[in-house]
Amino acid sequence: MARTDPHSYYDDAQPRTRHLGLELEVDFEGRCLHGWAMLDLGEPSSGPLDLDTKGLDIFSVEGEEEAEIPFELADEEPVLGRRLRLDLPPGTRRVTIEYSSSPDAIGLQWLDPAQTEGKRQPFLFSHFQPIHARTCIPVQDSPRARVTYRAAITVPKALTAVMSAGSVGEQPGDRPGARTFLFDMPQPIPTYLIALAVGDLDSRDLSPRSRVWAEPRTVEAAAHEFAEIEDMIETAEGLFGPYEWDRYDMIVLPPSFPYGGMENPRLTFLTPTLLAGDRSLVDVVAHELAHSWTGNLVTNANVDHFWLNEGSTVWAERRIVEALHGEDAAVLGWAIGEKALQAEFERFGAEATVTRLRNDLRGTDPDDVFSSIPYEKGSRFMILLERTAGRERFDAFIRRYIEHFRFTSITTEEFMEFVEEELPGVAAEVDAQRWLYETGMPPNAPVFRSDRLEALTALAADFAAGTRPGPEDVASWSPAEMLVYLQHLPRPVEEAACRWLDRNLELTSRGNYEILVEWLAIAAASDYEPAFPRLREVLLRVGRMKYLRPLYKALGGHPRTRALAREVYAAASPGYHELSRRASEAVMDQYPA
Ligand code: BES
Ligand code: ZN
Repeated sequence: MARTDPHSYYDDAQPRTRHLGLELEVDFEGRCLHGWAMLDLGEPSSGPLDLDTKGLDIFSVEGEEEAEIPFELADEEPVLGRRLRLDLPPGTRRVTIEYSSSPDAIGLQWLDPAQTEGKRQPFLFSHFQPIHARTCIPVQDSPRARVTYRAAITVPKALTAVMSAGSVGEQPGDRPGARTFLFDMPQPIPTYLIALAVGDLDSRDLSPRSRVWAEPRTVEAAAHEFAEIEDMIETAEGLFGPYEWDRYDMIVLPPSFPYGGMENPRLTFLTPTLLAGDRSLVDVVAHELAHSWTGNLVTNANVDHFWLNEGSTVWAERRIVEALHGEDAAVLGWAIGEKALQAEFERFGAEATVTRLRNDLRGTDPDDVFSSIPYEKGSRFMILLERTAGRERFDAFIRRYIEHFRFTSITTEEFMEFVEEELPGVAAEVDAQRWLYETGMPPNAPVFRSDRLEALTALAADFAAGTRPGPEDVASWSPAEMLVYLQHLPRPVEEAACRWLDRNLELTSRGNYEILVEWLAIAAASDYEPAFPRLREVLLRVGRMKYLRPLYKALGGHPRTRALAREVYAAASPGYHELSRRASEAVMDQYPA
């Protein structure tokens, strides 16, 4: 018996699910999924089969010809949930489990019509990474247990269902007033990439292999923002090899979506805060698209190796940005990442164990330690390998790596073994051991510079001494440059200086959320009252954790802003995803009493 994943009951000595069939009814009144999961084992099997579940009601388990299969639900473990142990009679090839999910399943967010743009229909979206599939489906919920899947999803007739799979049509539901959408994912994926969204959805084609889904009121804006997606896919193919997933569609979700993006295969999930109007936030799309190679084709074996997913994807994202927009644009991306990295070292302490790339998260809730460290330290490790091997050699290496490990899930050690085979000596030269297994940033961390970046940081450093950018500077800045300038400003900022910034940089009215939130964090930390109404609006509308954390944190500095935070949180939190509530509360728990 071997459990290989500290966050799953999956046991690789037991039979393995090869294919999953789902027949689910989406019950908006009861806020649950109800139906059947069919687990195909691929070959006649017997003995115990351990599945992950969390909050699931299990009604029955049957084998072939409806033979009952004995099962036992173990006691609830705080992070893992409840092990569902099936006792398979010899020759079992397939089991069918009837179950329903709980209304508080963390893998789902159920939205009232008021939380949508259209205000008339409810909305549902799933988010399963890293270990939430088990709150919606009884499965071997570990990335090593890849499955293909088919699904029949029944929803109220006015709504549309989309999944991280190919669409294979729709049919009238068994009940009047219902429609059933059919899906097929023929490629084996880790269970955290199973995804579902249901709502009043419309779509626009962007290229023969890409369309964007959104609520009718946002679909035009979304089509405009992501119109250049085909260029991006072709650029990524030039770097990493052919796009293997057939279609690359996207869905813009309601603003409570707790992330910027999620790389669900064939259907990236996106926050509407990307809709800046000027395509200035498409680096997030570059990131999710890059996961089609790093993450979805080659997957981390479990959360301890999460940096393999995200570090390599941030590296890949910045290579796409560089190819599309030039080296200066990529350098700004690295500089923005540097700020995020510094903030995390402050949050956890530079010597905290989570600052290692290779982790040991047994007994820890992975959502509690989610951070930019695997992203930014991991991508710095990748580019250090690139710089040391030389770009041409490294690019060839990356293509072989993807080709070699496609459709598998690997550990840090398996990755490094491959690095040693393909790029002998490079790991030792960069002191990979230190990067992977030790805390903090190694002394050979790569440095990123450009004249533009230096000019911006110098200008920001002189702000306190009264230096201000001229109108011609400001007018020439790209959104990323504006963001870098704001990130480097000292804080708190005096009231008059806040007023100067807001007037001259037109900050409060920005449609680019990265800039807007950076500004609002400065304003909050500076107790600058004229920004409070906009701050309130943002916190009430948006559930993206990347924005909630710094805003609630910046509001912690003054009694008046703390009171504002508590008041706004009370009003906003019922509309937040459970993960966003936890993230916000973790920040406010640090407020002085
Ligand atoms: N896969 C992640 C999101 C994720 C990771 C959710 C782990 C839950 C657990 C996604 O690709 C991501 O990194 N999104 C970022 C985008 C950014 C780095 C460009 C985000 O949401 O901000
Ligand atoms: Zn990612």
